[in-house]
Amino acid sequence: MSEKQCNTEDIKKAADILINAHHAIAFTGAGISTESGIPDFRGPQGLWKQYSPELASIDYFLQHPKEFWLFYRMRMSTLFAAKPNRAHYAVAELEKMGIIKAVITQNVDGLHQAAGSSNVIELHGTMRRAVCLACGRTYPMDVVIKKIDSGQIPPLCDECGGILKPDTVLFGEPVKDFDRARELALMSDAVLVIGSSLSVYPAAYVPIFVKEMGGKVIIINMEPTELDYIADVIIQCKAGDAMTLLLKEIKDRLGIQ
Ligand code: APR
Repeated sequence: MSEKQCNTEDIKKAADILINAHHAIAFTGAGISTESGIPDFRGPQGLWKQYSPELASIDYFLQHPKEFWLFYRMRMSTLFAAKPNRAHYAVAELEKMGIIKAVITQNVDGLHQAAGSSNVIELHGTMRRAVCLACGRTYPMDVVIKKIDSGQIPPLCDECGGILKPDTVLFGEPVKDFDRARELALMSDAVLVIGSSLSVYPAAYVPIFVKEMGGKVIIINMEPTELDYIADVIIQCKAGDAMTLLLKEIKDRLGIQ
């Protein structure tokens, strides 16, 4: 796909919305992390173009825990090597400036927190830890990787011998903190959507809630999304470029270095 230039008029419109908002939030998806080397799911090189999404379902995990963990182990190498990129840092800086109040993310990579964002809701959980399905004990993922790499597949709980599961939300499981995410969205008058196809529910309700309350929707995405029809501004270019330009525009307007 050719690298599209970000439209400066759209960047200016997005800056206007965010500067004048009283309570803006960011909503992010896998597209914000591809520039950190983590593949997305439905983009041109997305994971679901090579593997069946069935692999990420709770049914598949319960029936084939060993194959599930082998798939996840491969994903984790990419994930643990990843560092936040310009877009993550720009989101964190906008939070520090008080321009956005929180980040609601579908991502499980922890890169928003690593970039300095503090008010982060991980709707789809996190790959940074695993949980025992029998007793609920949690383990840092690096401990679990050691178990796997020493041949314990699926990895088991030291306490009760139960099977460990990544603390991510699989298809067929309820998302996490959705009540808090809905509450935040319903009190927001602007949402900055970055790198999501907006095709998975209930997560994709977040920008819809903002719109329904009369708020403004800004979508930064390299391709059209399923909710472009509700967007007030659509910026179709790379998230790293768009967020760098947007942060600069806002800082210039506010006279901040
Ligand atoms: N800049 C801007 N947009 C990008 C970039 C980039 N550098 N890289 C990819 N994109 C876009 C893709 O074009 C795609 O439209 O980001 C979007 C990512 O969409 P998905 O791959 O569907 O990811 P996401 O919306 O987060 O998926 C939601 O689906 O499989 C589940 O649990 C998984 O959380 C995930 C959920």
